[in-house]
Amino acid sequence: MTKKVTNSLKDSALFLKHALKSPMQVAYFMPSSPWLIDQIAKCAHLHDAKHIMELGPGTGGTTKGILKYMQDDAQLISVEINQKFIDHIEKTIDDKRLSMNNKGAQNLVEIMDEYDWESADVIISGIPFTTLPKGMDKAIMQSIYDALKPGGIFLAYQLRDHVSKLAQPLFGDYTFKKIEFKNIPPMRIYTWMK
Ligand SMILES: C[S@@+](CC[C@H](N)C(=O)[O-])C[C@H]1O[C@@H](n2cnc3c(N)ncnc32)[C@H](O)[C@@H]1O
Repeated sequence: MTKKVTNSLKDSALFLKHALKSPMQVAYFMPSSPWLIDQIAKCAHLHDAKHIMELGPGTGGTTKGILKYMQDDAQLISVEINQKFIDHIEKTIDDKRLSMNNKGAQNLVEIMDEYDWESADVIISGIPFTTLPKGMDKAIMQSIYDALKPGGIFLAYQLRDHVSKLAQPLFGDYTFKKIEFKNIPPMRIYTWMK
């Protein structure tokens, strides 16, 4: 059995500080648990993906999980709007496959252009769609759809079901759903194929 990715005390303290400061943006009081991180990475079909995007890495636990499961020649762009989280990830994760970007998940096609990517094979999102400012949820969903290649996988881990209604007009019904009860709070994992 491979070792699960864990969060350090520093990760958790920084996450809590920013959850209190920006509750609508961060949404939970603690980062994803090792069990959730493992399930996200396992459900995302990373084995044959070369271009992977992560939206909302927070303090980087999910980022480490994705890096653990992805191929050596794959690339990961993690998009995060909180500069303190970006600084923390850049200090704590040293992996040449990872690039951090602060442009926001509503600008994925523009972000991919910077890296000369045509499209993404897999997009993994921890963005809290339910608590975003009005209109931003739809803008981010459209951006995900536009950035993903046909046949690509979109995975979202969420506390509430709002994301499935938001994704439906573009992606149709989800292809997979699982609830990770060992996370606090229990978290739903959804995937769609474009
Ligand atoms: C629930 S936290 C998830 C953190 C981490 N992935 C985890 O599971 O522990 C949501 C993250 O989304 C980020 N976020 C919110 N809106 C965003 C946007 N428009 N673009 C990129 N990141 C965003 C927040 O700053 C926060 O780090």
